[in-house]
Amino acid sequence: MTTNKPFGTLTPISEEAACCGDDCCGDSGSSEITHEQLETITAAVQYQYGSLASNAAERAADSTRVKATDKFYSEDQRDALPDEAAGASAGCGNPVGIADAQLGETVLDLGSGGGIDCFLAAKEVGPDGYVIGIDMTPRMLELAQKNAEKLGTENVVFKLGHIESIPQADNTVDLVISNCVIALSEQKGRVFSEIYRILKPGGRFVISDMVTSEALPAVVQKSATEWVACVGGAAVMSEYLKLVESTGFSTIEVVKEERSRPEAIDWQQNLINLTLRASKPS
Ligand SMILES: C[S@@+](CC[C@H](N)C(=O)[O-])C[C@H]1O[C@@H](n2cnc3c(N)ncnc32)[C@H](O)[C@@H]1O
Repeated sequence: MTTNKPFGTLTPISEEAACCGDDCCGDSGSSEITHEQLETITAAVQYQYGSLASNAAERAADSTRVKATDKFYSEDQRDALPDEAAGASAGCGNPVGIADAQLGETVLDLGSGGGIDCFLAAKEVGPDGYVIGIDMTPRMLELAQKNAEKLGTENVVFKLGHIESIPQADNTVDLVISNCVIALSEQKGRVFSEIYRILKPGGRFVISDMVTSEALPAVVQKSATEWVACVGGAAVMSEYLKLVESTGFSTIEVVKEERSRPEAIDWQQNLINLTLRASKPS
């Protein structure tokens, strides 16, 4: 567990604009991120999502917050979840609502957080199906496990792991889902190769993620605050789609594409909540 705050200047995660602070706009420097910065970002992501897990109950009870569950999930879906699963929800879409998971299928959720999408998928695949949630933040995994106990869910397992090196055997998964997580990885190509590796031939993914219509300002790409808000690492959508195609996926379909901050007047207006479906050829 990350117990030490990696640096003192991180602002809390917000589901709306996380920035743009004094040091956040107008830098024309290189957009290349260094290995040192990357380690800081990984530590920052774990720190922030660990804190979010610890505050899930308070977040659920806070009626002043616009919750991800209110934005993206149906009333039926929300009613089926423990408060802490809803309180930890930090997605940018509803992949399970679109994926049409079938009874008996094996589903794997990349960056499962408090488990929200795993629990919804578990209902859809039924007792003969199986759901695996992967997350690199120990406090999130603990929260997800507690939520599973509250729900009495028996067909979900949560595993500590990185989406760049998924702890799952080749060709074993029918459906991969992910909700606002790949934007947090600087190795997106590796993540898509891993998804390809674990999917059965003919298997599919449905992923919601933050992308952008134009390259973000370099200073945003380098900001730990923007990374933890799923913004700093958001890829340009056309490049993201090319990456998926070059990995070998077929029937690539943009299911949903919505401006994330339509009222913004700066670079933030380029942010897009994308939901994408694709298959591994049979
Ligand atoms: C924005 S939250 C989304 C959580 C969940 N999917 C949801 O919709 O509420 C991102 C989650 O991904 C996890 N995460 C981020 N980068 C990861 C990585 N490289 N490998 C595994 N988990 C990661 C974080 O710990 C966090 O729980």
